[in-house]
Amino acid sequence: MRHFLDLIDIAPADLRTILDDALAMKAARRGAPLGQADADAPLAGHVLAMIFEKSSTRTRFSFDMAVRQLGGSSIIASSGEMQLGRGETVEDTARVISRYVDAVMIRANDHSDVEAFAAAASVPVINGLTDRSHPCQIMADLMTLEEYGLSLAGARLAWVGDGNNVCSSFIHAAAKFGFTLAIGTPGRYAPEEEDVSIARELGGEILLHDSAEAAVAGADAVIADTFVSMGDSDADERLARLADFAVSADLMAQAKPGAFFLHCLPAHRGEEVDSEVIDGPQSLVFDEAENRLHAQKAILKWCLDRQ
Ligand code: CP
Ligand code: NVA
Repeated sequence: MRHFLDLIDIAPADLRTILDDALAMKAARRGAPLGQADADAPLAGHVLAMIFEKSSTRTRFSFDMAVRQLGGSSIIASSGEMQLGRGETVEDTARVISRYVDAVMIRANDHSDVEAFAAAASVPVINGLTDRSHPCQIMADLMTLEEYGLSLAGARLAWVGDGNNVCSSFIHAAAKFGFTLAIGTPGRYAPEEEDVSIARELGGEILLHDSAEAAVAGADAVIADTFVSMGDSDADERLARLADFAVSADLMAQAKPGAFFLHCLPAHRGEEVDSEVIDGPQSLVFDEAENRLHAQKAILKWCLDRQ
């Protein structure tokens, strides 16, 4: 069974296969109507269930379109409209849904719930974001950087702001794709030590800084995310403590000339990033958003062994 729960668990060759497939599928259907299935319709007759415990725009629409373009279909529900929201166990939910569909994508508050769901399921399970990680996002981000000509092995990426779930998946990716990840956070919002140590054990070069300037120096790409993630209850304190880690044009000027700017969206202009950066020529944020679709098609095919 191939689950897609965290990049750290997946072999580099498989991640490479997924990115190559995503790039090839995107090129092959260029110009086709978005709702038209790919010529080979590799998931014809297949159904993806999607369960959301938290809000989503990109993940919801891109997965739905991904499975349609692969020739399959989807069923989407929020946990609140399922018995899950009334106390049915994660495990029983997984066992039941596995009898109906071919794969499940879950966006959950607690990462352990996605792990428990996958352990009980008899179909592949995909992590569509938890409090701990967001692996699908990073596959789209890396695809985007490659499209813009960056060779990942040996590249230097800079993460600035909160050492959150998206940061954790970038840490995992550094170990798998061979880029250096320089992280600038206030100490209080440093990334999970477990993620840093496991990535380093696998050879990942993870540099921890307590200033944004140190992190972005010489970077090929600068990455930001919201200062207040879904589920965070200390918004005022976060906004105050993270203010010095906002990405401005001045900060971008300290990275390599022409460095790319990435943000998974949704963005808060004037908080973690200035408008002139996210809406400026170095920003790839809408390519990233589009590439969620293409990367997730390849993830679905990998999970269902349809490559
Ligand atoms: N980037 C991302 O996952 O966006 P959504 O929360 O809108 O799905
Ligand atoms: N870190 C953000 C990402 C949203 C896509 C959150 O978890 O809310």
